[in-house]
Amino acid sequence: MSLYFGVYFPTIIVEQLPNIGYNIMYFSATRIPHNRNHKEKMIRDYEGNELTKSYDKMRADYPEQIRDVVLECLQRNYRLGARKRYMLDVGCGGGKATQLFMNDFERITGIDISESQISVERRNLNNRNNVRFQVVDYYRFPAESTSVDVVLCAAALHYMNLDLFLKECDRVLVQGGIVAILMYAPQLLKSSSGQIIGDVFSKTSKYHKAVDRFFQNCGTDPAVRKHSLNRYESIFNRIANPTKRWEAEIQVEYEYTMQGLLRFYATCGGYREMRYQNSYQDPLHDLRESFCEIFRENGIACEGNTSFYVTFVYPIMIVNKMDGLKIM
Ligand SMILES: C[S@@+](CC[C@H](N)C(=O)[O-])C[C@H]1O[C@@H](n2cnc3c(N)ncnc32)[C@H](O)[C@@H]1O
Repeated sequence: MSLYFGVYFPTIIVEQLPNIGYNIMYFSATRIPHNRNHKEKMIRDYEGNELTKSYDKMRADYPEQIRDVVLECLQRNYRLGARKRYMLDVGCGGGKATQLFMNDFERITGIDISESQISVERRNLNNRNNVRFQVVDYYRFPAESTSVDVVLCAAALHYMNLDLFLKECDRVLVQGGIVAILMYAPQLLKSSSGQIIGDVFSKTSKYHKAVDRFFQNCGTDPAVRKHSLNRYESIFNRIANPTKRWEAEIQVEYEYTMQGLLRFYATCGGYREMRYQNSYQDPLHDLRESFCEIFRENGIACEGNTSFYVTFVYPIMIVNKMDGLKIM
């Protein structure tokens, strides 16, 4: 049986959760790595047409509700007007998050260090006069000071230096502008009867341990692993700005097969590069074994086409440009 011929079937949007109210102010000692080697690895990890295409195909589109939440937050700050002129999407990749907003802003610029990721975005958003892309590093956003209404960063901040990122946000945002930080993860594994058999954010869950080991086997930096596997709480906790809010978490449940889920993990940054460097060891084999163990322990057959459910979670974190802001 091949690992590479699975499909996944998006089924139902389960629910939109209310604000879960994270108000903790906490400074973690964790630093996101930021050096030349890290940058070069990042480019390698996300480069290449093969990865770019499978990323585009195997990663589901973002739920529409994210758009509503972000625009509502912006609207609150612009009570006296409806300024929605300029969005900057930092680490835009193939533009999955950019697309949500393409009808809402007069102008969107997507930036990414990966040329091939940007080329997918160009293809996906062809004919959109208001959207443009630039292959550039995030250290200096290609935008004038106080010109941007929303800085969006979707599933990319775990690769960046938070301090540099926020400094640039502060420089480019207009008063009342916001930073919208998104991430997502296949959080819960559920049997076909709905029983939870794994939680990727729970350190004691075998699912968490299996995915952490997979990332490790792919050469993923420990800090990146940590941020991804704690739903960005370690990033959120380091943000000092008191306007920060864990605004919402959207959950979407998909029906998956084993092959489908493995194909999802094969799109993680680092996997492809690891396979090129070491063709004898495939981190997906170990991941599959761990998944099978979880399945068997829960009385579920571990067949390639056994179907089960995966609940994806999409946390949305919002930070306001502070000076002169009255609300939030
Ligand atoms: C997991 S992908 C997310 C892509 C897209 N935002 C999405 O939600 O589908 C992470 C992206 O961050 C980009 N990235 C990583 N380091 C970067 C950097 N230093 N500057 C700009 N983009 C970067 C990668 O090239 C990759 O496209």
